[in-house]
Amino acid sequence: MQEISWWRTSIGDEEIARVSEAISAEHLSQGPVTAKFESALSDVLGVPYVMSAPSGSAALFMAMLAIGVGPGDEVIVPNMTWIASAHGAALLGAKIVLADTVADRPVLDVTRVRDLITPKTKAVIPTHLNGRAVDMEALNRLADEHGFHVVEDACQALFSKNGNGYLGTQSDIGCFSLGVTKLITTGQGGFVATRSEETYRALQAIKMHGVVTDEDGRETYLRPGFNFKYADILAAIGLAQLDRVEERQEHVRAVHERYARVLERLDYLEHIGVDVDGGELPLWVEVTTPYREALRSYLAGNGIETQRVHLHLDLAAHLAEPGIYPNSHRFSREGLILPCGPSQPLENVDRVIGVLSDYRPPA
Ligand SMILES: Cc1ncc(COP(=O)(O)O)c(C=O)c1O
Repeated sequence: MQEISWWRTSIGDEEIARVSEAISAEHLSQGPVTAKFESALSDVLGVPYVMSAPSGSAALFMAMLAIGVGPGDEVIVPNMTWIASAHGAALLGAKIVLADTVADRPVLDVTRVRDLITPKTKAVIPTHLNGRAVDMEALNRLADEHGFHVVEDACQALFSKNGNGYLGTQSDIGCFSLGVTKLITTGQGGFVATRSEETYRALQAIKMHGVVTDEDGRETYLRPGFNFKYADILAAIGLAQLDRVEERQEHVRAVHERYARVLERLDYLEHIGVDVDGGELPLWVEVTTPYREALRSYLAGNGIETQRVHLHLDLAAHLAEPGIYPNSHRFSREGLILPCGPSQPLENVDRVIGVLSDYRPPA
């Protein structure tokens, strides 16, 4: 029996050709290929400034530096997200304030944010988990009222939309990941997107240890920063992946739809779908079930790999005290990711569906 892995992506001849082109031209570290990739992303997302980063985590860290997060600040983060959403702010000395998610959608419940705002609130980081949009209009209204920054964690939401366009382009800064389990990948990588020239200039300096160079090549130390440079070899892969991005989007939608039709008939689990008709892009296929561990073993016994969803953040003692967050706790306890991905064969999906249909939960 052939094993089905929980995630399938692809790297092919075009990536190999582009990487070899970059190497032949000695374009290794950040240079013209990176600039081309940034410009292609900026065009396709319709956002004026895109800057590459070594990872989505680094993008979030750069964003926190750009808005000046530091000790004494509070940053509100959903309790259900990958912990990277919180680490940039936490490493800069800010206090992480956790908020629960909406009951039926594991994304930040913006109605809870109001009660958590204090004069120290520096930023809110809405995570568009698995392409699901946080209510950005309500959050941006709160931000205008109280004067905090909004930095979108769109690491799982590249090319996902709400009624106002692409997620990750609707706040001060959007942060994206190009890790392996994302719609397009460069192995490691990420980028930030912003509409503000001032923020972009700050990010440019941050990327180069805070050093800016004038037209005569004279350098000035402007602010603290780090080496957050990207690499042309990776950007070459990114350009090849971007060429086939529509195909990849269509495929993840097809996988989601194929599962959705059947999963709604199974009474031992709940499909936590995404709003495809509203423009959201389902990166992963997630279900919740009180029988998660038993189901996971059963599927593994049938050669099918699954992935547990993220742990809730109030388990991280270095970030916060354990608290009462019923929605994120349930999702974290019961959530399971089924085999999916932009190159997951539909026959694999059909086999998983067949095995799921035969499952009988423990009495
Ligand atoms: C919600 C979220 N935030 C941040 C990150 C960090 O991205 P990276 O793994 O590229 O550092 C990820 C990566 O999976 C993520 O899912």
